[in-house]
Amino acid sequence: MGRILIRGGRILDPAASRDEVADVLIEDGKIAAIGAGLDASGTTAIDAAGCWVAPGFVDLHTHLREPGQEYKEDIASGGRSAVAGGFTTVCCMANTHPVNDDPAVTDYILDRARQDSPARVLPIAAATRGLEGRVMTEMSALQKAGAVAFSDDGRTLMDGAVMRRVLEYARMIGAPVSVHAEDRHLVGQGVVNEGAVSTRLGLPGSPAAAETVLVARDLLLAELTGGHLHVAHVSTAGSVDLIRAARERGVHVTAEVTPHHLTLTDEAALGYDTNTKMAPPLRSASDVRACRQGLVDGVLDAIATDHAPHAPHEKDVEFTAAPPGVLGFETAFPVVMDLVRTGEITPLELMRRLSTTPARILRLRSGTLAVGAEADVVVLDPDREWVYDPMKGWSKSHNSPWAGKTMRGRAVATIVAGRLVYDADRGMLVP
Ligand code: DOR
Repeated sequence: MGRILIRGGRILDPAASRDEVADVLIEDGKIAAIGAGLDASGTTAIDAAGCWVAPGFVDLHTHLREPGQEYKEDIASGGRSAVAGGFTTVCCMANTHPVNDDPAVTDYILDRARQDSPARVLPIAAATRGLEGRVMTEMSALQKAGAVAFSDDGRTLMDGAVMRRVLEYARMIGAPVSVHAEDRHLVGQGVVNEGAVSTRLGLPGSPAAAETVLVARDLLLAELTGGHLHVAHVSTAGSVDLIRAARERGVHVTAEVTPHHLTLTDEAALGYDTNTKMAPPLRSASDVRACRQGLVDGVLDAIATDHAPHAPHEKDVEFTAAPPGVLGFETAFPVVMDLVRTGEITPLELMRRLSTTPARILRLRSGTLAVGAEADVVVLDPDREWVYDPMKGWSKSHNSPWAGKTMRGRAVATIVAGRLVYDADRGMLVP
């Protein structure tokens, strides 16, 4: 394996609270040294002047669609899209076909990932069989096969007694339970946030309370059981408040927020663009403000993309009929850079939310640039301007609310296990 020297970048390593200009030497797949003026002989040199060098991003929430819906995405295309966005590890949700509720499916995903994906792929297995919310999966066997967490994502687990048992069992085996908190009865037919926007659009609304009541239930169940609750894609001010209060009284809870819920309000849907339809829906300006503040305060620990590819024929229909979800990997960094530009968060803290903390939530060894650590590294140009064209992206799908928008900030080089797998100017460097 070759040696790589990343020269003269601004090192942002949240794990060591390091923010300084230096070189990074990578050797034998590991971080070998960090310092000024490291010897470049015999290395592939990457000029990082004016760029940031950070631990590769870790995405706690993505949909790779394989097995079963490879027309939307597969592990190869999703893995490429991930590294093009600076993600070196992605956790894929269980709502595949078949559902990842059996170790054979977990094995299959890991096997395909080893062969096809430049990003590391970690499966999140279903909490209940078929995501039906009734019978728990064999969580221990799934964990032994490689599942890192459990979730019925996309299908809220509505039965509180089952949820309690899932949390109890997950606690015994030391795994987090990631929840898509939306009370299905309160959501009803809702396809956008309930409020002035849903009225103007004449579309059925889903109230913020549909999320918040479920977050309240699950926090209480986490408290009851001692299980590790991870709240996926937080979108309401009420959820942020409840998570903050629960954390203060010692509940084992972590939470994530998406780039879209941090930057777009429900008004983005006023043009009936189905690429603004997601679950949970885009919310009001005050919810967005609360999510941003929650991220800044660390109440929301991590940024996760909820990368959710859907094919054009599925999205190019009336709003009520379109499936919810948007692409996430390739736009995540420039989109959340908005919080750095407004001065809400420092670059170092942003990197913590994209890499170090999500890695810690899953107790991964990544998320650090410590000497001796696996070399999962991203080089970011915080100022590079580019126009995002999903047709030219790496995903098989194109459903993004940012299509055609000028982006500022880009992953320019991504290294996984010491191998340069992506370079923004040269493209994908894997077969
Ligand atoms: O927007 C979403 N899309 N939310 C979900 O919970 C599921 C996801 C998907 O699988 O498309």
